Amino acid sequence: MTASALAPTPGLRPRNPNFSSGPCAKRPGWSLEALQDAALGRSHRAGIGKAKLADVIERSKRVLRMPADWRLAIVPGSDTGAVEMALWTLRGVDLLAWESFGEGWVTDVVKQLKLPDVRTLQAAYGELPDLAQVDFDRDVVLTWNGTTSGVRLADGAAIPADRQGLVICDATSAAFAMDLPWDKLDVVTWSWQKVLGGEGAHGMLALSPRAVERLESYTPAWPLPKVFRLTSKGKLAEGPFKGETINTPSMLCVEDAIDGLRWAEEIGGLDKLIERSENNLAAVAGWVARTPWVDFLAVRPETRSCTSICLRIVDPAITALDDEAQAAVPKKIASLLEKEGVAFDINGYRDAPPGLRIWGGATIDTADLEALLPWLDWAFDRARSELKLAA
Ligand SMILES: Cc1ncc(COP(=O)(O)O)c(C=O)c1O
Repeated sequence: MTASALAPTPGLRPRNPNFSSGPCAKRPGWSLEALQDAALGRSHRAGIGKAKLADVIERSKRVLRMPADWRLAIVPGSDTGAVEMALWTLRGVDLLAWESFGEGWVTDVVKQLKLPDVRTLQAAYGELPDLAQVDFDRDVVLTWNGTTSGVRLADGAAIPADRQGLVICDATSAAFAMDLPWDKLDVVTWSWQKVLGGEGAHGMLALSPRAVERLESYTPAWPLPKVFRLTSKGKLAEGPFKGETINTPSMLCVEDAIDGLRWAEEIGGLDKLIERSENNLAAVAGWVARTPWVDFLAVRPETRSCTSICLRIVDPAITALDDEAQAAVPKKIASLLEKEGVAFDINGYRDAPPGLRIWGGATIDTADLEALLPWLDWAFDRARSELKLAA
């Protein structure tokens, strides 16, 4: 196909071209004005600072419908910090991984902590490990939504409510967009930079009563740096769970987190957040069903993520190419759309199979995703032409 025979650019453009999987798009209508009440230049230990930090904790619990007996802390190091705190202070030994972030937690437990008696249950990109093989009487580490493969757990059915072990769940790209079954989980982590469109740097660590019990009864064999310490004299350190953070947070980020949570409450809470995200997935699924060149990376429809929507290119002329040539196609699509100002940051994750990753979390308006879809067709044609690939 010659350049002149290429389809014209679609008429509509997404109002907001930010489709990154983290940091994710700010909520609709966000501007810097939202931060004007930030407690800047004040101590985070002053009344005003502590109240704002406690507000983030309380609002998060309410919006997420977290059971009253769970504890929630703001911790350093974004989601990574929260997961690492759990891994270093608890005992994850059955490790589930189906993409890059889950694999990262496996590396930590196996190569850094060197825990004995570890079992790793891994699956290829697009799949889930066989959950029937997991022994939930052991402590399990899993990532609810694999952000780099777009594969999520459909529900918590495989996890027994009366298990002996703890379930440590990295839920950073699931919280606020998916229904988390609190009775099936013991440690849940996320960061502000994902579904509510907040900023990076701060993590949230939620603990069930059984996780607290474990923390108070188990002393790891290794020294713990101050930023990982959750207990003091054998008891849960109360401070981080009421807004007295271990170290200094950014009060600008805190204000922004409150803004995101207020927005969540205003639009109708968790149900509405989930609905917005599922609508985004449905819009993409409709397009995938009528578009021969593309498919979901997730093999089973019920495991398709509604936040990190990962797509692979299945056009036979492309799949016949070697890996490098295949990877050039989504890269080109992403760069063409970036140049047009239509979509930013939608090339797949660096460790994932080549493809596109489009964020569909709650801050994304479905109308923007719908406006993007014809642009993907446009960019695919143009990429083929520019890369001189057969149509
Ligand atoms: C599943 C998962 N875990 C961990 C992280 C790391 O998060 P952060 O950079 O907020 O620490 C990410 C980031 O995208 C993620 O998607």
